[in-house]
Amino acid sequence: MSFPNDRPQRLRRSEAMRRLTTETRLSISDFIYPVFVSEVVDKPEPITSMPGIFNYPVAETAREADRAFKLGIPGVILFGTPSNKDATGSASLKKDGIIQRAVSEIKSFNSDILVITDVCLCEYTDHGHCGVVKNNNVIDNDATIDLLARQAVSHAEAGADMVAPSDMMDGRVAAIRDALDKSSSEEVAIMAYAAKYCSAFYGPFREAAGSTPQFGDRASYQMNPANSREALKEIALDVDEGADIVMVKPALSYLDVIANAKAMPDLNVPVAAYNVSGEYSMVKLAAERGIVDERRLALEILTSIKRAGADIIISYHAPDVARWLAD
Ligand code: PBG
Repeated sequence: MSFPNDRPQRLRRSEAMRRLTTETRLSISDFIYPVFVSEVVDKPEPITSMPGIFNYPVAETAREADRAFKLGIPGVILFGTPSNKDATGSASLKKDGIIQRAVSEIKSFNSDILVITDVCLCEYTDHGHCGVVKNNNVIDNDATIDLLARQAVSHAEAGADMVAPSDMMDGRVAAIRDALDKSSSEEVAIMAYAAKYCSAFYGPFREAAGSTPQFGDRASYQMNPANSREALKEIALDVDEGADIVMVKPALSYLDVIANAKAMPDLNVPVAAYNVSGEYSMVKLAAERGIVDERRLALEILTSIKRAGADIIISYHAPDVARWLAD
């Protein structure tokens, strides 16, 4: 087949024809909305690096989660900033910790909202690393997974439906699954940040959560952005260890990784992609400067993430998407 018989433009000639032949459609049911909860604010505080996103005190969290849910977004993922940080992130384990309280407030406000918690130490440690640090500034993987497992159990006991470890320690999914099962939380799911890269796209998030590492960087535990094959190993390990959903993060610069994950022959779990803070803020700031059309750009990026193979998209744009898809 070739021109002049073949004319692909035939299927693009009208809005109705393009609508009919659309291969990838975003649905608001694809989305998870990240919500920041903080013990250091007493009213919603705008996060200056992320226009439109706020740090909420616990008391306001349930209303924000419910607002998202009423827009059709199935669930929220919670990130917490405690008032006290220390070397081992002990605030992350407290029964009345920031996330534990936020989870139970949301669940008692509206138990239908899917509540996911980020499981990591970086928001709770004074050095900002995702694990405990040994004398020589090396992350202690095995000591860390024990703390992560306890944190996950504590989130589950507060009522979380799903825990999402974002630390990239080796063996943490198995440790978390085992701890959840032993504490009668076998029904709580794990969404593993399986292929999480050491990325500059997290910049705005670290301002929001006050989690910038105080020394060094996260390159010894997060993945090298140059690597693709290694992502498949990380994903396979996490599925083996009991992950119910695997995630690729960031999304936009890693569409090939999402597509490769989706093409793994034996992968029988959903693939999530995290459209991270830097991806969001680039769109917002460019739109504020008037150099792009925010709605078109955001929808194009999110559609490309789904087209690459993501079943689930975690995005700060989610409430906007709900409105855009509705009109
Ligand atoms: C915590 C965590 C981070 C993000 C999600 N969980 C930050 C990091 O690893 O530095 C980033 C999310 C975003 O940028 O939107 N480990």
